[in-house]
Amino acid sequence: MLANKTIVLGITGSLAAYKAANIASKLTQAGARVEVVMTESATKFITPLTLGSITSRLVVTNLFELTPEFNVPHIALAEAADVVVIAPATASVIAKLAAGISDDMLTCTVLATKAPIIIAPAMSANMFQNPITQDNLAKLNARGFIIVGSAYGRLASGKIGLGRLAEIEKIIGTINQVLGRSSDLAGKRIVVTAGGTQEPIDPVRHIGNRSSGKMGYAMAEAARDRGAEVKLITAPTSLPEPAGVNITHIETATQMKKAVAEATAQADTLIMAAAVADYQPKSIAKAKIKKKTPTLTLELVRTPDILTEVKGDFIRVGFAAESEDVVANARQKLEKKKLDLIVANDITDKDSGFGVDTNKVTIISRDGKVESLPLLTKREVADKILDRVVELLAKR
Ligand code: PMT
Repeated sequence: MLANKTIVLGITGSLAAYKAANIASKLTQAGARVEVVMTESATKFITPLTLGSITSRLVVTNLFELTPEFNVPHIALAEAADVVVIAPATASVIAKLAAGISDDMLTCTVLATKAPIIIAPAMSANMFQNPITQDNLAKLNARGFIIVGSAYGRLASGKIGLGRLAEIEKIIGTINQVLGRSSDLAGKRIVVTAGGTQEPIDPVRHIGNRSSGKMGYAMAEAARDRGAEVKLITAPTSLPEPAGVNITHIETATQMKKAVAEATAQADTLIMAAAVADYQPKSIAKAKIKKKTPTLTLELVRTPDILTEVKGDFIRVGFAAESEDVVANARQKLEKKKLDLIVANDITDKDSGFGVDTNKVTIISRDGKVESLPLLTKREVADKILDRVVELLAKR
């Protein structure tokens, strides 16, 4: 999504300006052309040389300086931009933008562009929560600016509060989402499940599995970046929450079933990448079970089969983690659960399946088509699955 896109990265005078170097680096590594515009105050916190070295582009700081490439830089950048991102954005620049003031290179570029504009505020908690700043942000929001954050946490003053620059993953996720708005899943509503459900035994223990949530999160991010409206239903994971995705946290299979039923009431596609427990304890002990006996017997009962039981007219995609007869076993599940596609996971390969960043899958469709893919990143696998979903949606 970022490859070959032109991103104007505005940096303003906040201590968080140093984090913009990381943003510029990640965007550049993803193949974007990053045009950095710094306010004069930003240059007190981080040098144009740093940003120029990261992006291999000339950093623009002065409205009145011609560059070898652009004779009117703010107009040229405003027109070239696929998206303008201001990170960090100070209270001062937010106020100027809300008032339409254009007295430096950055504010002129923003006023001149027709590209979407993302603002990631960073300032002290008092400045952020000041009604003037909040009014300015609301005004910008109402005019179509996309506001990311701020986050709660340790601020430059050493105090803890709201006003921190949003996490970099969240800012980059929002850029991806904005760039993907007119892509091949634009307007489609996709529900994704992720992670391993946890079935409680007592107040401290549960039955779980080794799913990290990586496959499901990659699915959700890929669908978001292709323009879909994504609902992610996730069991507990240690992954950062993807930006621009509606997230529901659940723990058990029964909770996941309820969340899936609600989310799919208006969905085009359900993709179940979660590893859902097949059994749950028949009863949950109210107090912690003491280790009084040498053995302990738990009585387990079946959990609901979400894919089989969920009602509605939408495309159904299941996953199957298999260690033998991968394709045959997955095909049986496709038939039994009446799926449109099943993604058979070969979990015998150490680089495939649970916990790792890569996956080796075979995509099997109801019409018998079998597509075996090489070892790919989970994000690449997600895009291959979505290619098939796009085909299925086009036939409906
Ligand atoms: O999370 P990661 O660490 O990235 O790992 C990814 C993964 C290996 C968990 C994922 O790629 C995967 O294969 N998920 C499916 C795991 C599995 O084997 O599911 P299953 O064969 O038990 O179920 C088949 C399908 O039915 C799955 O889509 C599952 O979500 C669904 N199911 C299962 C049980 C149940 N009670 N209800 C369901 O809907």
